[in-house]
Amino acid sequence: MSRILGISNLTMAFGGVRAVQQFDLLLEEGGVHGLIGPNGAGKTTIFNVVTGIYRPQSGSVLFEGRELVGRRPFDIANAGIGRTFQNIRLFPNLSALENVIIAGHKDASYGMLEALTHLGRYGRVVRAQREHARELLAIVGLDAREKERAGSLPYGLQRRLEIARALAIRPRLLLLDEPAAGMNEEESVALVNFIREIRRRFSLTIFMIEHHMDVVTSLCDEITVLNFGKILARSSCMEEIKKNPSVVEAYLGKE
Ligand SMILES: Nc1ncnc2c1ncn2[C@@H]1O[C@H](COP(=O)(O)OP(=O)(O)OP(=O)(O)O)[C@@H](O)[C@H]1O
Ligand SMILES: [Mg+2]
Repeated sequence: MSRILGISNLTMAFGGVRAVQQFDLLLEEGGVHGLIGPNGAGKTTIFNVVTGIYRPQSGSVLFEGRELVGRRPFDIANAGIGRTFQNIRLFPNLSALENVIIAGHKDASYGMLEALTHLGRYGRVVRAQREHARELLAIVGLDAREKERAGSLPYGLQRRLEIARALAIRPRLLLLDEPAAGMNEEESVALVNFIREIRRRFSLTIFMIEHHMDVVTSLCDEITVLNFGKILARSSCMEEIKKNPSVVEAYLGKE
């Protein structure tokens, strides 16, 4: 196995609030890492730093050996990192299919003139993008609903559509911010199977934030507990995490 992501000494502050302090993490290719912890612990902030939305005060984020700090979100997505958002960010008035096609836009290899005249590579590229988007919709179980407005899909399907959209850029690393949020037990079980399937199919490494402990236990091979921006515990054994008194006090005990 080789290292895909290496975060070291990461500190991100907003004014006086130190959201993340000296965070580090090593992710091996093919792994599934879970990030858990109470509300406001700094979990989403870590994702926002990795994807270039925030620039940290200090620290380094290496993806496949290359520094991401200082690079733009679009550039980081193109490098091979896909993500979903805690609060769903789809284009609600576009169809399910259009949402996925737009996300896969980096595939575009045609020139401006070809786009304007619809000649040459343009037609081929557009057809290929549409086909790829359709394949992804089929994988997430939305193929029968490709024409529906994203905003009118049920919540669980919007979450799946977000994942299809994240996959459109053909990522090697996928960040999932609370994929099971708002789901009941049956839906979370389906989600777990679905995440396993896409991980295998696309050889993904997954870094996920989740509050549903059953989802974390089923999927993750290592777990980090964050509290007030700092690492409280880290283990490959969920039982160990569940028994850790400071984790129980800061997080699990309050469930
Ligand atoms: N853009 C911002 N400006 C100011 N403060 C921010 C910003 N983003 C996050 N914070 C603060 O940083 C801290 C960590 O927030 P973050 O969203 O990373 O927490 P979280 O662990 O994802 O919580 P939750 O489980 O509720 O999603 C919070 O105190 C939050 O208010
Ligand atoms: Mg969050």
